Amino acid sequence: MVQSKPPITIRDLQGLHDLKQAEAVEREVWELSDLDTTPLTLAVATQQAGNLWLGAFEGGTLVGFAFGFLGLEDGRPNLHSHMLAVRAPYRNSDLGYKLKLAQRERVLAMRINDARITEITWTFDPLQSKNAHLNFAKLGVISLSYKVDFYGPETSSTLHRNSTDRLWVKWPLASRRVQTRLHGKDHRAEMLDALRTLQPLIQFNAHGKPHRTDLPAALLRQRIAIEIPSDVGSVEQKDPALAREWRLATRWAFTAALQSGFFVAEFCRTVRGQQGPGVYLLEKGTPEEYIPELAYQTNGAR
Ligand SMILES: CC(C)(COP(=O)(O)OP(=O)(O)OC[C@H]1O[C@@H](n2cnc3c(N)ncnc32)[C@H](O)[C@@H]1OP(=O)(O)O)[C@@H](O)C(=O)NCCC(=O)NCCS
Repeated sequence: MVQSKPPITIRDLQGLHDLKQAEAVEREVWELSDLDTTPLTLAVATQQAGNLWLGAFEGGTLVGFAFGFLGLEDGRPNLHSHMLAVRAPYRNSDLGYKLKLAQRERVLAMRINDARITEITWTFDPLQSKNAHLNFAKLGVISLSYKVDFYGPETSSTLHRNSTDRLWVKWPLASRRVQTRLHGKDHRAEMLDALRTLQPLIQFNAHGKPHRTDLPAALLRQRIAIEIPSDVGSVEQKDPALAREWRLATRWAFTAALQSGFFVAEFCRTVRGQQGPGVYLLEKGTPEEYIPELAYQTNGAR
């Protein structure tokens, strides 16, 4: 008789046994050196101090987790989500998404002096199309900030050899934008429409290379598009020099656009066919015009 697998449940990690499992998943997913792996003592201390370690369990076995700690941005408390990991055999089945939903629920239920926490921040590598899709399309984050070599020029992780540039993203938990995203509203058609007439600032050319177009012209428009490969991991394996070109070109484009009054609003995957590039859409203006609830937060309202 075929044994069916137990359902996957999401719950808080409890005690040393669970935290050791998180360490094993962290080592498996990022393949870090001992020095770069989160020490168990720090994991215990952060958990005991009230930070969030959420796990996805198949029976008693941890198959993914999300770790976030309390942070401060512009004087307001938030949760900074430091790690989200799903073991490779369990990916692309919504588990990463469900861990983020659980994180959101838990944070919205927290109170600091009767005030709600309304934002989770995190960072991700903007060349990772999959993370971009999860973060922007499925969850509804925005980004105002590009961090060059955030963790240094490289880390011991096999995932972070091509520098450690990051987009710092904000997830306005209670905003209408996020709520409609979580109800499955798909913006792909509108985005493809907007992209039809827009020449990308970084364009995936016929040889798979990043072609830089006219920056001054792009900065005069209302929107900027930046293309990325659909699978930068395979580019890194086959042609590290080309992966480096992608890093430098996208770093140049994001940095210039964000310094000139744009913010990253959307990501649309695999435009132009199955293996085609994905594309970021940046908007000129303040994110508060785009997401009114951000203005409400900035004014100190609860
Ligand atoms: C990032 C990670 C946690 C996502 O977990 P997951 O359980 O696979 O995520 P989900 O299934 O919820 O969502 C993945 C989405 O990306 C899509 N996707 C897969 N490959 C893709 C690609 N190359 N380009 C764009 N989208 C892609 C999937 O189809 C799915 O979207 P859909 O549900 O709309 O079809 C997991 O891949 C992981 O552990 N990666 C390594 C560590 C990491 O990068 N952590 C995050 C930064 S700290």
